[in-house]
Amino acid sequence: LIMNIITVKDAQEGGHKAFEIFKDELANNAQVFGLATGSTPITLYEDLVASDLDFSHKISINLDEYVGLAPDNPQSYHYFMQQHLFNKKPFAVSYLPDGLAKDADAETARYDEVIAGNPIDLQILGIGRNGHIGFNEPGSPLAGKTHKVPLTQSTIDANARFFENGEDVPRFAYSMGIGSILTAKHILLMAYGENKADAIKAMIEGPVTTHVPASALQNHNNVTVIVDEAAASKL
Ligand code: GLP
Repeated sequence: LIMNIITVKDAQEGGHKAFEIFKDELANNAQVFGLATGSTPITLYEDLVASDLDFSHKISINLDEYVGLAPDNPQSYHYFMQQHLFNKKPFAVSYLPDGLAKDADAETARYDEVIAGNPIDLQILGIGRNGHIGFNEPGSPLAGKTHKVPLTQSTIDANARFFENGEDVPRFAYSMGIGSILTAKHILLMAYGENKADAIKAMIEGPVTTHVPASALQNHNNVTVIVDEAAASKL
């Protein structure tokens, strides 16, 4: 199976391409959009906010959320989504894992029901420097469902700059599993910058392995990858 790879100049142009894909999905009557956080999808969200597209009758489902952070914590993924998209362009319903859930097993089961009841038409993805998708770190089962995951040190370190105190950096997250992600009908992964080049090469050209969670996308039949020249430089 061949991934559809689109190389762009930079994140700006990548956002425009991603926007066109999002728009086409809406025109094709897509109902459910899987959304991601991180810096990568921001240019897409900017284009969505600036557009006259209407998804106020659609559903969104986010990939993940930090355990322990309230929705109004500026470092939570809830907050990120409000700031970058939902405050300006709301969906009818937007689902995210509840970082404050008391019972992790109940929360992951609830989220699996959300996904099962709202099959995702288009899933937006970024990729971690170590090839993680959502918060499925290397070693995650490639068929897994929603789970509570310990974050790797590299991810904790990458997040540390956003927190004043080291001990406030979340150590766990709730994340859709790789298996959940693979249920989406169409997956759109974006990656920008040289520090993503190794992950992109491993995802596309390497073996399908739990060491590179994104390599599982090789087993999906409808994946679009938008990369800038730096992220594509090792292909
Ligand atoms: C976090 C998120 C991922 C995201 C990754 C890369 O780990 N859970 O969904 O893809 O960061 O972030 P960025 O887009 O800022 O490089």
